[in-house]
Amino acid sequence: MRRDRQLELIQRLLKYQEQGTTAYAPDTYSNELAAYSDPARFAQEREIFFRQRPLPFGLSGRIAEPGDFATDTIDGSPLLVTRDRDGVVHAFLNVCRHRGAPVAEGCGKAKMFACPYHAWIYNLDGSLKGIPDARSFDGLDKAELGLTEVPSLEKDGMIWVGPLDMKTPMPDDPMGPLSEEFAEWNLGSYHHFGGYRMVQPMNWKLVIDPFWEGYYIGVLHKETIAPYLESNRGTFDAYGDHHRMVVPRNTFRDLANQPEDERDLITHAAVVYGFFPTSIAVIQGAANFELWRVWPDQGRPGWSVVDLAIYVPEEPKTEKARNFWQKNLDLAIATVEAEDFVLGRIIQQNAENVQQDRTVYGRNEPAMTHYHTRIRSPLGLEATV
Ligand code: FES
Repeated sequence: MRRDRQLELIQRLLKYQEQGTTAYAPDTYSNELAAYSDPARFAQEREIFFRQRPLPFGLSGRIAEPGDFATDTIDGSPLLVTRDRDGVVHAFLNVCRHRGAPVAEGCGKAKMFACPYHAWIYNLDGSLKGIPDARSFDGLDKAELGLTEVPSLEKDGMIWVGPLDMKTPMPDDPMGPLSEEFAEWNLGSYHHFGGYRMVQPMNWKLVIDPFWEGYYIGVLHKETIAPYLESNRGTFDAYGDHHRMVVPRNTFRDLANQPEDERDLITHAAVVYGFFPTSIAVIQGAANFELWRVWPDQGRPGWSVVDLAIYVPEEPKTEKARNFWQKNLDLAIATVEAEDFVLGRIIQQNAENVQQDRTVYGRNEPAMTHYHTRIRSPLGLEATV
């Protein structure tokens, strides 16, 4: 992140600390509990947010070298993403053009892909290379039987795939007004350290909500992240639909006593980005990049797939370095799985079963208000409930 941005954020956070305050929304906001359970709204959200918009696939480091590939199934769409011999990223439906079997599994390095069913062979660029007993397919044009390409874009170290409806065009710049700042992180060379995937009985927005405020850190997370992060304190800035929050670590206070040219934001704060509306990035401490992606599980309003991937500035070469990053990964998982999601699962049940119709966001939760207001607009709903 650019130095002048860091210094401005440090100034703002020091002021909040001095005043015992945080970033405030202009007003409180009321939302419908049915936003997490209504099947008609869910169907509309699924079409608009998961099929008509591009989705992050990962940082470039997920498939860093020519020949690298990774598969994924995002909201029911099986995907194969490759980096071809020239280093160009492609995304395809992971569906053989013969009889529909997946042509690749997991991730790794490949020169080509052989379908496990009848061994049709595909190149890294998706073109069909070979058909066993090709004379049986006389009359078919091999050039038209490559893997079905899905739109993809690699920009500023992020790989985007979709829109998965295969009709809406990929925008030139999915980050929009956040693009300039995102590029400043130089994430293109980051190494993919590892990840973790969960399926949770929660609506996709209920999985995402806990990332949008620090009001609860000292309460729900008093044993896990409260020793590291300040509670109920942080900046908030909107970038169109996207947003950024910065939450000070408990070491942040030391910056008040340091000369300005020695102050470093990233060592002493967690920077949280909302990539509207389905993904979250957290950058903190040693500048590790956590990418959280969420999508509905099997088309069910009350179930979600939650995918965490950790990227680190360089490949860890020693056991000590690997253990350090593993500890970071374990802490992130323990915090959300054992704390956020335990409550989230109950809130989902309440959304589906009780008669109370509203929840409310305080002025100290500006990202919650921004996020849920912005979600309503593409659905054709008024900004306020
Ligand atoms: S389904 Fe792939 S070769 Fe037959």
